[in-house]
Amino acid sequence: MKKAVIITFALILAGSASLNAQKTTPGSVNQLVVIANSTGPVISKDIYGHFSEHLGRCIYEGIWVGTDSKIPNTYGIRNDVLFALREIKIPNLRWPGGCFADTYHWKDGIGPQAQRASIINTHWGGVTEDNSFGTHEFMKLTELLECDAYINGNVGSGSVREMAEWVEYLTSGSESPMTKIRKENGREEPWKVRYWAIGNENWGCGGNMTAEFYADVMRRYSTYLKDYSGNHLYRVACGASDYDYEWTEVLMKDRKNRSMFEGISLHYYSVPGGWSVKNSATKFTENDWFETFRLNYQMDVIIKGHKAIMDRYDPDNTKGIVIDEWGNWFQVEPGTNPGFLYQQNTLRDAITAAIHLNIFNQHADRVIVANLAQVINVLQSVILTKEDQMILTPTYHVFRMFRVHQEASLLKSDLACENYTLGENSIPALTASASMDKDGKIHISIANLNPSKEISLTCPVIGGDFRKATGEVLTASDMTAHNSFEAPEVVKPTVFDDFKMKDGVLSINMPAKSVVVLELE
Ligand code: AHR
Repeated sequence: MKKAVIITFALILAGSASLNAQKTTPGSVNQLVVIANSTGPVISKDIYGHFSEHLGRCIYEGIWVGTDSKIPNTYGIRNDVLFALREIKIPNLRWPGGCFADTYHWKDGIGPQAQRASIINTHWGGVTEDNSFGTHEFMKLTELLECDAYINGNVGSGSVREMAEWVEYLTSGSESPMTKIRKENGREEPWKVRYWAIGNENWGCGGNMTAEFYADVMRRYSTYLKDYSGNHLYRVACGASDYDYEWTEVLMKDRKNRSMFEGISLHYYSVPGGWSVKNSATKFTENDWFETFRLNYQMDVIIKGHKAIMDRYDPDNTKGIVIDEWGNWFQVEPGTNPGFLYQQNTLRDAITAAIHLNIFNQHADRVIVANLAQVINVLQSVILTKEDQMILTPTYHVFRMFRVHQEASLLKSDLACENYTLGENSIPALTASASMDKDGKIHISIANLNPSKEISLTCPVIGGDFRKATGEVLTASDMTAHNSFEAPEVVKPTVFDDFKMKDGVLSINMPAKSVVVLELE
């Protein structure tokens, strides 16, 4: 690139208040400046994590069909699902809840399956839970997926002893009553468990605690979460929902509190229409489309709010934010059990995923883990199943396209873009992030939220010498386009070549309502 051009872009960057920030500009100036030789934080692969709760058809039918099933399986786990999740490089899986976690007693789920206790799933439809999927089955699943286990312990209705014994059962290589039972149940060697949550939503379904009370309880539980046999638990304290900054303040301000966890969770769902009405997942207007993205963008506001508090008490970034539940929450599909939270997934959800993943990438200094809610057949799933059939949702394809960001270094970027305006409201029309992987390839992920306008974007890539660019795009003719069991490939990625690269500057024509990932080498 010519020196004068470099100086111009350096000046543009010097003038911007903060890099990686998204600004909107009037008119049609759409520019994404990417600094190829910047050294940002590494984007944790675990930002691309998933969540599997004993809820509706997520675990049962979605993952677990049992060894006697006609559906092809490995140790009772669906092969089609294993293959699809490996393909997106699933880095970690959270289990067994959610609200279910604070009702779950792990000893109900070990030993011969026929002898396991049946319980009532009080949170989700009041159905019988036969505990045929328990600790051994979950750990087998993570082994087959080659991903980390993220286990959510029971604080709400469990005991300190119960949680401490679970960790010992899973991870200790020494002789003890728990490891003896584990061996009797067929597992000689301890497992590795990476992430451990100390309760879930303890301000709500996990015990309706105040922040102060929870902090004391968390300290007590955490005291007995031991690192056995070379395993190191990353302990996750239950954090806030949405804008509850007071909760974060209470957990963070006290030095002793802070010493008892490595990460603090955060839950935020986008619920267009509000909790009592909610949107249909597939029958919606442009107003609903717009409102969904307006809510999605709040994730950035919320992270910044919690981060500001954490920065005050932990300026060295030793504590991570674990966004272990996020996504769109719509009405259940007509005719399905309201307690099962089964919803379809459209191009709107794909753009939601792109907005969130770009935001998480941009906050790679603090956001260490994120888990989409939920992986299969529940809320904004990446996979839907119907008996022996499986389909990949538009959200799945975004996770597949964005997997290139896992463990790559975040690059400084500065996006100036036009607004997408509907009525009196406006939101930025574009969202983007960029990273460089270990082989020196740059990946730029962009979404155009406007459903009816192609946007021309100029993208100078400064500080590198890139000769080749390739791309993929996810789009469809309708906002409500989705994959179904009858038509499973309505929304799927295709090759994207509507861009030019000259003297280190990309000129990209972003199709209306699309997600694009470009690779430069
Ligand atoms: O993901 C569904 C539920 O939403 C989870 O069980 C709970 O933690 C949250 O309220």
